[in-house]
Amino acid sequence: MAERVRIVEVGPRDGLQNEATFVPTEDKVALIEHLQDAGLAYIEVSSFVHPKWIPQLADADEVFRRLSRREGVTYAALVPNARGLERALAAGVTEIAVFLSASETHNRQNINKTIDETFPVLEEVVREATAAGLSVRGYVSTAFGCPYEGEVPLERVLGVTERLLAMGVREVSIGDTIGVATPKQVRERFAELANRFGAERLAGHFHDTRGTALANVCAALEVGIRTFDSSVGGLGGCPYAPGASGNVATEELVYLLHGMGYATGVDLDRLVSAGRFIQERLGRKLPSRVLAACTAE
Ligand code: HMG
Ligand code: MG
Repeated sequence: MAERVRIVEVGPRDGLQNEATFVPTEDKVALIEHLQDAGLAYIEVSSFVHPKWIPQLADADEVFRRLSRREGVTYAALVPNARGLERALAAGVTEIAVFLSASETHNRQNINKTIDETFPVLEEVVREATAAGLSVRGYVSTAFGCPYEGEVPLERVLGVTERLLAMGVREVSIGDTIGVATPKQVRERFAELANRFGAERLAGHFHDTRGTALANVCAALEVGIRTFDSSVGGLGGCPYAPGASGNVATEELVYLLHGMGYATGVDLDRLVSAGRFIQERLGRKLPSRVLAACTAE
């Protein structure tokens, strides 16, 4: 039987948070519907962050309210603090994701706190979420490079990851926020992370700013990573990371993984339909090359 790779679809969150215009709530809900039709079993739906910081996702509560939920699908959301958790619990999320950066300047720009100030906030969120029966995922941003500080030392990434896992986070997604990583660095960093914490507790989150995301997925696969975040159409980016662009496209990731003999549970044709849907709604060509190739066929 083919070995399984888990895909975390972050398009509705990482993808749409970076759009210049607000995507109507009904289009967000319809996109999620298409994604679950395609077989994606983990969908990051939105963010319970401050609506002034990310106005594109100010309708998180309403998107959750309108979801038609399916058995076996995880509906997750980003949560930065206790207020965000309160909203996430009221919305009925399946899992929350907490986040911080390995570099001080990006952390401050993104969530208005130093790294040391962030930990007690996240500890409280994880404690309360766990007590309420939710599981928690964690993100470490700028794990390869920071738009303000350049290359980020591996020790910082290891330290932040260790603290997230120690507070009870189920899995940590290691983020190449601005798409600067290359396969050698990815192999080395993930080998060390997997050695310390176990490959099964880690995920790869690659933005494709410089065209290296799929190569980075291959490098992480080599050292045992079996969970990857991706975004339909290759949407995405962090508004507080200058120069950041889309995540690795889910269509490209699925095409690559199936070609390598891995199972994902995703139907590529239906996924392409999801990509076409959001491409039409946004009214511009999205970066996914597999979407473009399948649309031309
Ligand atoms: P702050 O201004 O320091 O917040 O923002 P505060 O705690 O001082 O509170 C100020 C006011 O905001 C208060 O209201 C709070 O109630 C309210 P007041 O008492 O003045 O009336 N407030 C909230 N309202 C609604 N929901 C909330 C919330 N929190 C406070 N959750 C904060 C701090 C963290 C909230 C802000 O900086 C923020 O929301 N940042 C989010 C930035 C973000 O979402 N960035 C993108 C996601 S991260 C990413 O993309 C990277 C990733 O993809 C991985 C990778 O690629 O590396 C995950
Ligand atoms: Mg991201």
